[in-house]
Amino acid sequence: MGKDVIIACDFASAEQTFAFLDRFGAARPFVKIGMELFYAEGPAIVRELKRRGHRIFLDLKLHDIPNTVRKAMAVLSGLDVDICNLHASGTIRMMEAALEGLTRADGTRPLLIAVTQLTSTDQASMEDDLWIREPIDRVVLHYAMNARKAGLDGVVCSPLEAEKVHAACGAEFLTVTPGVRFADGDAGDQKRIMTPAQARLAGSDYIVVGRPITAAQDPVSAYERCLRDFVG
Ligand code: C5P
Repeated sequence: MGKDVIIACDFASAEQTFAFLDRFGAARPFVKIGMELFYAEGPAIVRELKRRGHRIFLDLKLHDIPNTVRKAMAVLSGLDVDICNLHASGTIRMMEAALEGLTRADGTRPLLIAVTQLTSTDQASMEDDLWIREPIDRVVLHYAMNARKAGLDGVVCSPLEAEKVHAACGAEFLTVTPGVRFADGDAGDQKRIMTPAQARLAGSDYIVVGRPITAAQDPVSAYERCLRDFVG
């Protein structure tokens, strides 16, 4: 898969999601389904979006004992999603178990990427709450390397980290990066941001874009602008 823009469909219901995606006509953007929508609508929303021809990043961030994650991943694999994810902090053994669960009888599987440290975690909360005393950028790289060791395909990270992750884990190790804003747009609650063009230069493989598209006056033009700036 080449570079692409993934739209974060952070909607509360299937109805709102379909109303939004219907605006795109025959285009079938790559979409991200997160916990809110999945917990509201269940696997049916994934099946329906697949049926309509969308590629899907199912962002459920699994984190549990290896046996539970293996079995849960087997279920997600059966939904035929394109990308799913977990927390690298669940350990290398949990990530290996996840890959086993995802791999179908014919050897195919969805891509699996890891969350390193959430962008809502900062140095102070990591030290005070989690008792991890290393600098956060080293922790992010260490977790990315663990994901690579376990055989995963990449990580979710800030576009500002994409270059370092590629240097440490290899050019083919995927960086899927939220925190993208247009230069003339509203940053909202995102702090460490890049434009789609900057993310492209930084080497991001996929950008995950929510509100700059979903809250735009004209979401289709905003999506097309992202594609032009990021993919070319
Ligand atoms: O609306 P916005 O473009 O900020 O949406 C970004 C999407 O990426 C949201 O679904 C958000 O939950 C997700 N995300 C993020 N930062 C992370 C991981 C996921 O913004 N570190």
